[in-house]
Amino acid sequence: MTTESSPALQYQSGFGNEFASETRAGALPVGRNSPQSAPFGLYAELLSGTAFTAPRSHNRRTWMYRMRPSAMHSKAVEVKVPFWKTGAFVDAATPANRMRWNPWAGPKGDADFIDGMFTIAGNGDAHAQLGVAAHVYHADRSMTDRYLLNSDGEMLIVPQHGNLLIHTELGRLLVAPGEFAVMPRGMKWRVEIPDGVACGYVCENYGAAFRLPELGPIGSNGLANARDFLTPVAAFEPPASRPCRVVNKYLGYFWESRQDHSPLDVVAWHGNLVPYKYDMANFMAIGTVSFDHPDPSINTVLTSGTDTPGIANCDFVIFPPRWLVADDTFRPPWFHRNIMSELMGLVRGVYDAKAEGFVPGGVSLHNSMLPHGPDATTFEKASSAALAPHRLDNTLAFMFESRLVFRPTAQALQAAHMQPDYDSVWSGFNAASQT
Ligand SMILES: [Fe+2]
Repeated sequence: MTTESSPALQYQSGFGNEFASETRAGALPVGRNSPQSAPFGLYAELLSGTAFTAPRSHNRRTWMYRMRPSAMHSKAVEVKVPFWKTGAFVDAATPANRMRWNPWAGPKGDADFIDGMFTIAGNGDAHAQLGVAAHVYHADRSMTDRYLLNSDGEMLIVPQHGNLLIHTELGRLLVAPGEFAVMPRGMKWRVEIPDGVACGYVCENYGAAFRLPELGPIGSNGLANARDFLTPVAAFEPPASRPCRVVNKYLGYFWESRQDHSPLDVVAWHGNLVPYKYDMANFMAIGTVSFDHPDPSINTVLTSGTDTPGIANCDFVIFPPRWLVADDTFRPPWFHRNIMSELMGLVRGVYDAKAEGFVPGGVSLHNSMLPHGPDATTFEKASSAALAPHRLDNTLAFMFESRLVFRPTAQALQAAHMQPDYDSVWSGFNAASQT
């Protein structure tokens, strides 16, 4: 048995592939998943992320070959996590208001990635495996002997400030602002904060796993290309005995079990239920070259579907740097009321629909049927601007868009970082002249 983890961060590219990786040649069984005796005395273990009979194109599962079975842990006891809330989000009435928050300063005292999670809003229900929760995180302590297993959903993590070094059962990922990472439901992992502090956003997806959207008439290339998604190679932590804790988020409660070894002891694995990351600079944005601009669905990076085709549990949509070239067109987002609900964040720069007030690390929430769009300053400027080709630089905004209304948590509605006067953004428009 080797006792060394892979030292360097390495990745495999692709999305939904049957990946395979081993830290030691011969550790991965050939031709069968669970031989009578796995190589080197390893234990074969299956992690399935979809029902066994899910269609092949949606089916996700991974075989792990590990030093000890992951079942080898103590009875779990409940622990408190102060600001991480879970659906069904019925602790406060959902105001029929547009809402916006400044960046969250974090909890008092130091906090790791679990304790530094603050839920802004969510929808659906973890028990029903439908809906999402939108969180911001502010962490300044690495998880060293503490690990997370989220049974409620996969986690799409969007760093805004500071890198995250995420150690998972399948290997390690370094995730920087400008990238995002997705951790599968049920996988064990811990987050190191190499820069001392890290802030960002999380979409906790209770529903169907995120996947690439269909491209329709766009064809076989474009938007997020599969080859730009990166999955780690196998790496395990030193197998020496040491006390470790695994926090299992389970229907909104947190259950901590103990074991005398790291849960990250997978020597080899193969499968398509994997953690991955993606650099949003690789997104091929598509827009008009004549007039108007397409619906924001053209900027979908990943989608979590529902039982109704075309209606998303959640779309992850980004607004990256890009050229605007449309003739005779109001180029920022237009005024609108949509049935889908939109929760937005900003990684860097400015967003072209707002002159001020929406800052990196902040959150805006425009729920179903609530009118919104550009503010008066943006409207005046965009209505009279010369329509030369114009490059939007220094911007990276994103949206969690859901068919379900986002219900803000009571803590978010009462938070000091909630902006009290967001509605005034849409004051000051002159009445159109009557003719
Ligand atoms: Fe909108």
